Amino acid sequence: MRELDQSVIREFERIVGANHALQEPDLTASYTTDWTGRFEGQSPVVLRPADTAQVAELVKVAAAAEISIVPQGGNTGLVGGSVPLNQEIIISTLRLNQCEPIDVLAQQVTVGAGVTLAALQSHASQRELDMGVDLAARDSCTVGGMIATNAGGINVVRYGAMRDQILGVEAVLSDGSIISHLEGLEKDNTGYSLPGLLAGSEGTLGIITKARLRLHPRLEERCSAMIAFNNVDDAVAATAQLRRTLPSLHAVEVIFAEAMHLVSQHIGSSIPVGHDAHAWVIVEVAASIDPTEELAKAIDGLGSLPVEVAVGMDTGTRANLWQYREKITEAISTQGTPHKLDVTIGASRLAEFVNRVPQVISEVDRSATALMFGHLGDGNVHVNILGPAGAEPDEGVDEAVLLYVAKLGGSISAEHGIGSAKREFLHLNRSSSELAAFRAIKKALDPNGILNPNVLLPPESP
Ligand code: FAD
Ligand code: MLT
Ligand code: ZN
Repeated sequence: MRELDQSVIREFERIVGANHALQEPDLTASYTTDWTGRFEGQSPVVLRPADTAQVAELVKVAAAAEISIVPQGGNTGLVGGSVPLNQEIIISTLRLNQCEPIDVLAQQVTVGAGVTLAALQSHASQRELDMGVDLAARDSCTVGGMIATNAGGINVVRYGAMRDQILGVEAVLSDGSIISHLEGLEKDNTGYSLPGLLAGSEGTLGIITKARLRLHPRLEERCSAMIAFNNVDDAVAATAQLRRTLPSLHAVEVIFAEAMHLVSQHIGSSIPVGHDAHAWVIVEVAASIDPTEELAKAIDGLGSLPVEVAVGMDTGTRANLWQYREKITEAISTQGTPHKLDVTIGASRLAEFVNRVPQVISEVDRSATALMFGHLGDGNVHVNILGPAGAEPDEGVDEAVLLYVAKLGGSISAEHGIGSAKREFLHLNRSSSELAAFRAIKKALDPNGILNPNVLLPPESP
């Protein structure tokens, strides 16, 4: 990468205005360190364009000067993909925050890439509609970041992940050209799906500036339950049964023992049910007519699998149960800097994985602690590994766990992406032919490799 000279900075300032070309370290600090504090970089300049045309102009200048770019939204990513690890410039999308009026007939909306999930949810709710993806970083994460990571979250069992919500995108490619396909046609077989390609591309193929999103009817009638189980097998069996018997199933989340005890301590509130249990499943049902009876019947049908159940029928009691799940990431961060692994395991091997993984970790680092929780409905387990006294664990723990995941036929990244944290392990899930196809796509769309060069694809051997 070329050194950034002052004439290029002046060009950037001409495009976005000097106020939006941040260079002082105290102004750039929040953009150069990731949410976990594990990944810290430096950047000569953070650029905050106001619209797609400015993004395109910035990219043209960067391309001509051979300067690499890290696109950034809310900087809530958890795999070290949103920060400049090698002196890249940052293009922040936070000012691309316009929501266009909702198209009620189509149940769709076009929004800027910098719109936060919470702002989008609030916009959609004005027309009794809702966004299909929800996650605890909703106040900060952006639509562009969610598309670039193909974010999952708590409602994948009902609506799928972010890729399933996208009907069109506008994006700036590595030469500064703009692609825009925002008509929102439900059926449109006119060639390759560029939105599908950009979903999960982690800023390596283009900078998303707008998206056309599918919305869903807002389901106001909700009921939640926390169900405690004595072992992981029972929790997995119950989840499968709930998925079969509950048409209004909206979320099935899980918290395993160490994570439950930590979060309960963090929020200063005792565990609502089954203090000595091993797994707590939080189930939410949502419908336009009250689904409480349906949930009660389905839980009855679980027979003796649950140890104890707590039900939340109003907003307050539901929020009380959900806080045990939503505050875990924050609770873990108070203990130090974890290695965050995010894996999917098929239902038939999931209990075996959860039971065995602490042993796999301790064989590499005897002082490491594993805290597990996740989205049980889709087999996604978050394995957070802490070293002693908040230090990072031995580097080898990541490889040991991810090798074990691959052995069980699972995915080494369920929803957070590959970023810089996992690219050396991508070969565990992707064959050399697949990696060659990935590289060909990257080369075609970003021949000089200026878009987020440190993420997703492993470095090529010389
Ligand atoms: P950033 O962190 O800014 O960027 C993430 C990646 O996307 C980077 O590679 C970046 O270069 C790229 N990118 C960002 N914007 C653009 C753009 N406009 N064009 C091209 N590339 C871009 N994730 C889940 O999937 N499910 C969860 O349940 C979940 N829960 C979370 C809870 C907490 C408390 C936290 C802190 C994080 C959680 N995450 C979760 C992770 C994170 O919120 C998501 O990955 C989110 O999609 C990132 O959005 P962002 O705007 O913050 O992106
Ligand atoms: C979650 O489901 O809470 C997130 O993906 C965040 C995390 O893994 O810490
Ligand atoms: Zn998650």
